[in-house]
Amino acid sequence: MAFSSFFENLALSLCAETLNRMQKKTITVPFEELSYSELSPADAALVETAREATERSYAPYSHFRVGAAILLDNGEVVPGSNQENVAYPSGTCAERSACFYAHARYPEAKFKKIAVAARGTDGEFVAAPVAPCGACRQSLLEYEMLAGAPVEVLLVGRDSVYRLPSVASMLPLAFTEF
Ligand code: THU
Repeated sequence: MAFSSFFENLALSLCAETLNRMQKKTITVPFEELSYSELSPADAALVETAREATERSYAPYSHFRVGAAILLDNGEVVPGSNQENVAYPSGTCAERSACFYAHARYPEAKFKKIAVAARGTDGEFVAAPVAPCGACRQSLLEYEMLAGAPVEVLLVGRDSVYRLPSVASMLPLAFTEF
């Protein structure tokens, strides 16, 4: 083999190796599990507002009542609850009813924190914290980006609360621009 074609072949195989090398990557979702007694008074109040908001859920079809409460940087707390509709997709989740109303009502305010609670079909608060659906994560992410700072998430269970550092942390590989 000629000297030059040896180097040509070497370059080609190195190139192929670089192109074909599959890389395994992992994204983790960090969260803390806290007991109620570990919540700060402000967080406990936000959690309570989310729990109360379940009372104003309109869920005649699923009987799954969800409540959310968003703390804004102007000090306001905006509650929301799931609002269902006989044409199912026309209804909306608690998180989106809260975030859309919060921004409609206080367009200048930044989101600081959101708490989410739910009661199962038996009317009791769910044992394991309920997590926002994908559409709600995407909607909340928009307001987190507007805030320019992490919006903490409190997911409320019967005996404990999951605390996530941000909306982005629960929506890996999010769609954020086009
Ligand atoms: N739901 C919410 O409001 N938030 C969630 O995080 C999960 C689901 C509502 C939508 C629907 O009204 C009912 O729960 C059952 O899916």
